[in-house]
Amino acid sequence: MNKFMTDKLGRPLRDLRISVTDRCNFRCRYCMPPEIFDKNFKFLPKKEILTFEEITRVSNILAERAGIKKLRITGGEPMMRHNVSRLISMLNEIDNINDIAMTTNGALLPGHTEGLKQAGLNRVTISLDSLNDEKFRYINGRDISVSKVLDGIEAAEDAGLQVKINMVVKRGMNEEDILPMARHFKDSKIILRFIEYMDVGNANGWKLDHVVSKKEIFSIINKELPIEPADPNYTGEVADRFVFKDNGNEIGIISSVTDAFCSTCSRARLSADGKLVTCLFASGGHDLRDILRSDADDEEVAEHIRQIWEKRDDQYSAERLKHTDKKQIRKIEMSHIGG
Ligand code: GTP
Ligand code: 5AD
Ligand code: SF4
Ligand code: SF4
Repeated sequence: MNKFMTDKLGRPLRDLRISVTDRCNFRCRYCMPPEIFDKNFKFLPKKEILTFEEITRVSNILAERAGIKKLRITGGEPMMRHNVSRLISMLNEIDNINDIAMTTNGALLPGHTEGLKQAGLNRVTISLDSLNDEKFRYINGRDISVSKVLDGIEAAEDAGLQVKINMVVKRGMNEEDILPMARHFKDSKIILRFIEYMDVGNANGWKLDHVVSKKEIFSIINKELPIEPADPNYTGEVADRFVFKDNGNEIGIISSVTDAFCSTCSRARLSADGKLVTCLFASGGHDLRDILRSDADDEEVAEHIRQIWEKRDDQYSAERLKHTDKKQIRKIEMSHIGG
């Protein structure tokens, strides 16, 4: 297989985001609303979920034959998957992978971060939408305190993991928490990123009015804590970077709605049940589980993936505003592909 396979828009595949479970210990109202993801909700049965060996095989094939360099472990909540550090140590054995990160809500990190670091995890991105305890307990739908997440952040730092924080900003939910969050993390090594609320999936009742734009977020911060733009770290970086003028520390804004970044999107997602998803807003994925469980060899699996990638022409965010007044299209839920 050509190492530099590209899609229909000339975009290479560089970054694989692996969802290891569709379960989560939180019920964030913008992601897994508790009324929908209730006790009757049918999560994936174990036999439908890829094993660590299957995940490692796909990652190895893509590293060896497609040139991916970066892996991100997601969920649901990846710490809900039993012994996820074993998976990380298996992925860490793959040649050419130079970065393994995890997106987590942080609550289950204490007690596990040393093991994760030793297994080969470099970085964690922890979600935290407010420092106001009462509000956070409401947003996460499970009455979990802010201090649980702060403990997770501390444990990650103590183990030497690099930490970023993601804060989803939704109008009417937490725009007044932008400044307290910026103040809280400003003088630390932790990079805080604000994410424009997105229309991922169909469960969260997204409306354009709920979006607080990058421009608005920028000006809220800049008024009190002056910031200026910084160059991207790499092509295709999702967050726009800014630095505080007084101490040079970084902060970011992710503007999938008002300033899409599809033209450089080199991300593929692997769902827990083995579907290769070529866009966060896709209505479905391409099954890899059957071919992985057949007697196909690595070359055949690689060829199957190449054919999927070469047909890819997704650029949902860039075209979003064309879709919003039409009947809703069906989309995969965030908890299936982990963001
Ligand atoms: P770094 O490797 O640290 O640069 O990570 P990242 O910014 O790629 O990763 P992260 O998973 O933290 O991304 C932050 C958030 O940006 C995700 O949770 C999503 O909400 C959003 N995001 C990431 N990738 C995409 C994408 O391809 N499309 C869209 N629309 N949003 C994305
Ligand atoms: N819009 C923007 N970000 C979201 N996330 C989950 N749902 C949404 C949404 N609708 C974020 C989570 C987490 C990451 C995986 O994506 O808060 O930080
Ligand atoms: Fe919240 Fe993340 Fe769980 Fe979704 S997957 S409910 S955003 S913690
Ligand atoms: Fe990539 Fe789809 Fe996100 Fe655009 S909307 S950046 S194509 S995942």
